[in-house]
Amino acid sequence: MKHLLSIESLSRDEMLAILDATAAMKQTRGRHAAHPLRHQCWAIMFAKSSTRTRVSFEVGIRELGGDPMFLSANDIQLGRGEPIKDTARVMGRMLHGAVIRTFAQQDVEEFARFGGIPTINALTDEEHPCQILADLFTIRERRGSLDDLKVCFVGDGDCNVPRSWIWAAARLGFELRIAAPPHYQPPADLLARASGRIAVTPDMQEAADGAEVLYTDVWVSMGKEEEAAYRVAQLGGYQINDKLLAVAKPGALVMHCLPAYRGKEITDDILEAHAETIFGQAENRLHTQKAILSLLER
Ligand code: CP
Ligand code: NVA
Repeated sequence: MKHLLSIESLSRDEMLAILDATAAMKQTRGRHAAHPLRHQCWAIMFAKSSTRTRVSFEVGIRELGGDPMFLSANDIQLGRGEPIKDTARVMGRMLHGAVIRTFAQQDVEEFARFGGIPTINALTDEEHPCQILADLFTIRERRGSLDDLKVCFVGDGDCNVPRSWIWAAARLGFELRIAAPPHYQPPADLLARASGRIAVTPDMQEAADGAEVLYTDVWVSMGKEEEAAYRVAQLGGYQINDKLLAVAKPGALVMHCLPAYRGKEITDDILEAHAETIFGQAENRLHTQKAILSLLER
């Protein structure tokens, strides 16, 4: 594996290898025998805001012996219109790897092609692979395995996080139900391409019935701020609350990629009652990304 560009591009075995390496990274934090990024400098090039992803990559790269270089896409010539392929060809001659958060998936793929250095997708409009790998690890950690899993995603079913969930369900064979209003459902061609055990419905109660994981994400993803009022009106009600949790399997995990907007996609009470899982998920971003960094071929 040279790059980590999407869940779609991963095989089942590659995903499981990342989860196994994550467990080892978590267990040996602070006393790693190997420092695979020694003498390496990695760019963290972001065109969107970030707390978890930025901090976990900066810390993770350092813990593996490397140096992170944070670049805001707007502060470099990319923000003034220099093409991504030229940016990649310059960076590829100086740096050892790149972690990129941006809008178009095509930009991350083009960077990987022209840069020739290991490239990691740290969120695009299409996918958030590092998040979903950390989520899968968190579920496996708490549940013991991913066998016969039933996940219910509630909210904007057409943004990066549910799209990566779709590919995860397709690759690993678990059941995914997405509850979203008609305009916020994943496109039919994506579902057909993934062809997993995936159901999409506007009926939240039906989707959550017996689910072992209830998962949500913001109603207004980064880049969609101008649609905020419309989205809140359309997605209002697609919330993880007591009523929804009551139909899930007893003891179901409640998960959120964060940041959370209490009173919108999740109630304050539910978030606080499940804070251990949700902030455990955030912590696992660090361990998962260190696993990814260590596995990419250099
Ligand atoms: N979940 C996640 O990616 O958080 P950040 O936007 O803070 O990085
Ligand atoms: N769907 C959200 C995820 C944030 C981590 C966004 O793109 O803003």
